[in-house]
Amino acid sequence: MQEKPDNFTVVIFGANSDLAARKLYPSLYELAQWGHLPDEYRIIGVGRAALSQEDFRAQVYDKLLRNSPGIMLDEVRYQAFSDRLFYVRLDFFDTSGYTALYRELLDLSPDRALSEHILFYLSTPPDLAPVIVRNLQQAGLGGYSNSLGGWRKIIVEKPYGRDLQTARELNAVIGKVFSEECIFRIDHYLGKEPVQNIMVFRFSNGIFEPLWSRNYIANIEITIAEDFGIRDRGAFYEEAGLLRDIMQNHALQLLAAVAMEPPVDLSADSVRDEKAKVLRSIRPFLPENAGDSVLLGQYEGYRSEKHVAQDSLVETYAAVKFYIDNWRWKDVPFFVKAGKNLAKTETSIVITFKCPPQNYFGPAESCSYIANQVIFCIQPEETIALRFGAKRPGEAVITDPVYMKFDYKTSFTEAGMTPYHRLLLDAIAGEQMNFIRQDSVEYSWAIVDAIRSAVDGTFPELYPVHSHGPESVVKIYS
Ligand code: BG6
Repeated sequence: MQEKPDNFTVVIFGANSDLAARKLYPSLYELAQWGHLPDEYRIIGVGRAALSQEDFRAQVYDKLLRNSPGIMLDEVRYQAFSDRLFYVRLDFFDTSGYTALYRELLDLSPDRALSEHILFYLSTPPDLAPVIVRNLQQAGLGGYSNSLGGWRKIIVEKPYGRDLQTARELNAVIGKVFSEECIFRIDHYLGKEPVQNIMVFRFSNGIFEPLWSRNYIANIEITIAEDFGIRDRGAFYEEAGLLRDIMQNHALQLLAAVAMEPPVDLSADSVRDEKAKVLRSIRPFLPENAGDSVLLGQYEGYRSEKHVAQDSLVETYAAVKFYIDNWRWKDVPFFVKAGKNLAKTETSIVITFKCPPQNYFGPAESCSYIANQVIFCIQPEETIALRFGAKRPGEAVITDPVYMKFDYKTSFTEAGMTPYHRLLLDAIAGEQMNFIRQDSVEYSWAIVDAIRSAVDGTFPELYPVHSHGPESVVKIYS
């Protein structure tokens, strides 16, 4: 990890994007308030819209007000922040715009030599990433083009490419312009406190790991459910669908964290080696097996959303049964479900253990009623619960499930950082552990491509808004 630098400029491509408004400006603003940013920091927004410096500063203020109700925002604080905000209008395809960006950076550079640290943040659709990176290189802003001591890094938002081939192409393009340690493929799930805690839970406690395998575990269920639809992202969803939006990244990263082997040490590469091995070991999806291992759904009314085709076959829900073909997990099903417009918003991982060999305590048919479980609730609650059977009070010996629960809110008082606070600081510090390495991105795409081609041509099953998803999800569990 590098030391906190004394200066730093972040250049946000997609300055007017939803992500910048909801996550990047609020995180940067708060990091600045808390004194976590380098003393000399600057934020340059880059976008297509024609905006003056003043318009941009006023718009960022409005965005903070609108999107971040809890933020400590007043005019004096904002003034100090907005003095560091700049805007460059640029058509991403037009190389002359990048020369203008270069000049702006030079003008803002204290030594007028561009020796400071620069972090490029691509908050843009995936197909623009190679274009932007090539143009940065051509303008002399690539990672290898700085000989004056400052670093140049790049954060690339998900989805990283749209399939294996485009991800490989993007890796090849970016790899020519930035070295791997300067490329930060972000998946904000890896910045969530309860997600980071999965590894700590597993490897800092002696009692769980010996049980963490096919010998004791019956199945693992990962759920990423949201009670809202695609919001105003119709155009994006039509291109992406849920498999690309959530399964390829957030869901597979949760699976890797739960299933990985203990790393050699806590270096970024040791941890990422183990995650990559899990992804590599996922049993390939074949069209003949897809019928009972993949289910795609679409919520009723999706086709009436803005920018969505009236005959769209894009999925807003996916349930997939994965197997990991290695010694630890052979034949243990991993049920992974994610969907929009479901009954409630909840991200969880449920590890269900095998039943005891002999069930003395009735009712006999219901071992699964009290099967031991470890339940990670990632959000909205941030808890870990252990479920076990206990005797129901009374004369009869009947067991009921009960829970021992750890809750972040009651066990810790420190206000946590959001994923974007944390991951921005990690990128500035050069800490790669919670960013996705090139090989894992490619393994994940290979998995999602195989799922997509296995179900190619099938219609997603419709499900009612605020339901539990398509009814035939039961087939995945059979
Ligand atoms: C984003 C997806 O990456 O993650 C969205 O594009 C999804 O579709 C969001 O809603 C979920 O993030 P979180 O942190 O709210 O669970």
